[in-house]
Amino acid sequence: MTTTTPEIHRGLAGVVVDTTAISTVIQETNSLTYRGYAVQDLAAHCSFEEVAYLLWYGELPDTQQLHEFRARERALRPLDRTTAELLARLPETCHPMDVLRTAVSFFGSEDPTEDDGSTAANHAKSLALLAKLPVVAAADHRRRQGLAPIQPDPSLGYAENFFHMCFGALPSPEVVRCFEISLILYAEHSFNASTFTARVVTSTLSDLYSAVTAAIGALKGPLHGGANEAVMHMLNEIGDPQWAEKWLDEALADKRRIMGFGHRVYKHGDSRVPIMQEATDLLVTSADDADAARLAALHSALRHAMLSRKGIHPNLDYPAGLAYHLMGFDIPTFTPLFVMSRITGWTAHITEQLEHNSLIRPLGVYNGPGQRAVPAHAR
Ligand code: ACO
Repeated sequence: MTTTTPEIHRGLAGVVVDTTAISTVIQETNSLTYRGYAVQDLAAHCSFEEVAYLLWYGELPDTQQLHEFRARERALRPLDRTTAELLARLPETCHPMDVLRTAVSFFGSEDPTEDDGSTAANHAKSLALLAKLPVVAAADHRRRQGLAPIQPDPSLGYAENFFHMCFGALPSPEVVRCFEISLILYAEHSFNASTFTARVVTSTLSDLYSAVTAAIGALKGPLHGGANEAVMHMLNEIGDPQWAEKWLDEALADKRRIMGFGHRVYKHGDSRVPIMQEATDLLVTSADDADAARLAALHSALRHAMLSRKGIHPNLDYPAGLAYHLMGFDIPTFTPLFVMSRITGWTAHITEQLEHNSLIRPLGVYNGPGQRAVPAHAR
């Protein structure tokens, strides 16, 4: 009898696991679309709230639908006292991604409809998470600076309200728009690691909070969402544009991963980068500040050096990391900003997974010892 060794796809690279109607990368044009709309168009013409609605309901909202959606999101923002107290008790050294992960898990324990996996119930839970996660992230941002939380302002849109809750003031409209563009670009990216994690958890018929908690854990890693923080640490480590090439050569010789570069899907450039880079460049120009100019020059020098040395293009985390720094956020807040956006994509996928569910359970090829008897000392 002959046995054939199954083909192994490490990291599931190139494996197609299901269909999705939420987003796709059109290989021929290197273009990312959400429900058929190019992200470039969405970033140019839509608010983040419209994109969230699109991802969940499949169509852009009309004026009335958007008005109602915004009103519901704003009403859901405040945290109850128990949640606020729980979060305040977490150690101050706790990474903000751990704070968000704990918060979502706690929201699940408080929700009497936790196990109702109907589409209507999941849409309601998704909207509540969309509304509350920024409140948690902003309170935690202020806690790290020894400052009291600022309550959400229902007169402000999603992006503006976040600045209000972090800093107690609104930046220029250009800064808010750059932030909103980052939220739109981060919102969804098909079967990426964190979304796939959410789908795996959902496929067991577990609840939405469990799936989102797990997705936050997957996003935290530096090979995924944690890369936007790692980009800023890397720029700080290099320090000056004139050292970019030397630093890169040494880092590559040490087999280090250069953060914010490379992508599993895009091998000829991430289609989101030009839009984010343009918005980041505007921030640098409007900052009119020597430190911003130094960082921008360093950012550009490293990008060019990486392309010439390795032919590897930046991914969205590369411009987003710098943009978030220029907006005034501390580095540990960067990946939580990604969560505030990707919560829309994750929950759209959770709903879609449940609509035609099949348990996700791949196989592995065993390469451990052959069958053997338990030795005498262990009996
Ligand atoms: N720095 C140095 N080398 C790299 C990088 C990088 N950032 N990315 C890829 N490579 C090299 C690898 O060393 C490998 O070279 P080799 O064939 O000589 O060994 C080759 O390119 C292929 O790399 P893989 O890891 O097999 O490619 P994969 O598709 O699995 O990797 C990944 C994708 C994990 C994102 C990778 O590019 C990486 O580690 N990037 C840095 C982390 C990062 O920026 N993550 C954010 C991803 S995008 C997002 O989450 C929004």
